[in-house]
Amino acid sequence: MDTTELSDHAAHNREHWNDMADQWVASGEDSWARSTPKWGSWELPDEGIELIPPDLSGLRAIELGCGTGYVSAWMARRGAEVVGIDVSDGQLATARRLAAEHDVPVTLVHGSAEAVPEPDASFDFAISEYGAALWCDPYVWIPEAARLLKPGGRLAFLSNHPLLQLCYPPSGDTADETLHRPYFGLHRLDWSEVEIDPGGIEFNLPISEWMRLFDDSGFDVDEFLELRAPADVAEDRYAMRAEWAKQGPSEMAWKLTRR
Ligand SMILES: C[S@@+](CC[C@H](N)C(=O)[O-])C[C@H]1O[C@@H](n2cnc3c(N)ncnc32)[C@H](O)[C@@H]1O
Repeated sequence: MDTTELSDHAAHNREHWNDMADQWVASGEDSWARSTPKWGSWELPDEGIELIPPDLSGLRAIELGCGTGYVSAWMARRGAEVVGIDVSDGQLATARRLAAEHDVPVTLVHGSAEAVPEPDASFDFAISEYGAALWCDPYVWIPEAARLLKPGGRLAFLSNHPLLQLCYPPSGDTADETLHRPYFGLHRLDWSEVEIDPGGIEFNLPISEWMRLFDDSGFDVDEFLELRAPADVAEDRYAMRAEWAKQGPSEMAWKLTRR
C-alpha cells in the first residue's frame, strides 16, 4: 500500500491500530472460533440483529476495515467469496494467521476503505463492524461502498450511536449523562490529544444526516437498529458504562440496499 495516498485521519488511525494490534489478538481468536456471530462491544446475540444474510453462496462480499477478520470468516463460512480490507498491517497479520489456522479462504488487502482497489459494482454485499463505520469519513466511505456494490447489493454496518459520542467528555473519560458537544454538525471526533487514553480519529453524523447521505449515495434504508447493553451485563466496556448503555443506545446498526 502507498501510504502517501492516505487521508490524514487514515494515516493517523493506521498508526493507532498498528500500536494496538497485539491487544486485539485474543478477542480476534475468540471470535474466529465462534460459529454464530455476536455483535458490537456488548457481544450481542445474532438474533434480531442478523447483519449477515444467512446464505451468501455464490456471492462476493467485502468487509471494510476488517481488523482481525472474524466477520470475513463468518461470511466465508456462509458461502461468500470474501475480500477484507484494512489499513493496519498489524491487524492484517493476525487476520492472515487466523485465516490459515482455520483454513478459511479470505482475500486480505492492505489499504483504506476510503479508496478500495476493486472495480465498480463488483460486490453483492458489504459490511463493517466498527471498521470504516467508525474510523472513515462517512462522506467518503459511504459513496465508496455504493461504488463497490452492484444494484440490489446490500450494505450493513454497526458503530457507536451518535448519542454516545455526544456524551464523551473532552478529556476522553467514560461517557456520562452530559451532552459535551453539539448534535447538529457532528462529524469528526479527534481523540488523539485527549488527557485520558489518547486514541484515534473517529466519525459520526446526526441520524438525519446519515439518512440524507444514504439517499444521496444511492442507498435505500431497510432497517435501523438502536442497540442497548444486555440487562445482565455489569462491567463497563471501551469507555462505555453498562448502566448508561442500558438506558440509551450506545450502538447503532444500519441495513441498506443499493438502488
Ligand atoms: C475495531 S476494528 C474492526 C474490526 C472488528 N470488527 C472489530 O470490531 O474488532 C477497527 C479496524 O478498522 C481499521 N481501520 C481504521 N481506519 C481504516 C481505513 N481508513 N481503512 C480500512 N481500515 C481501517 C483499523 O485498522 C482496525 O483494524
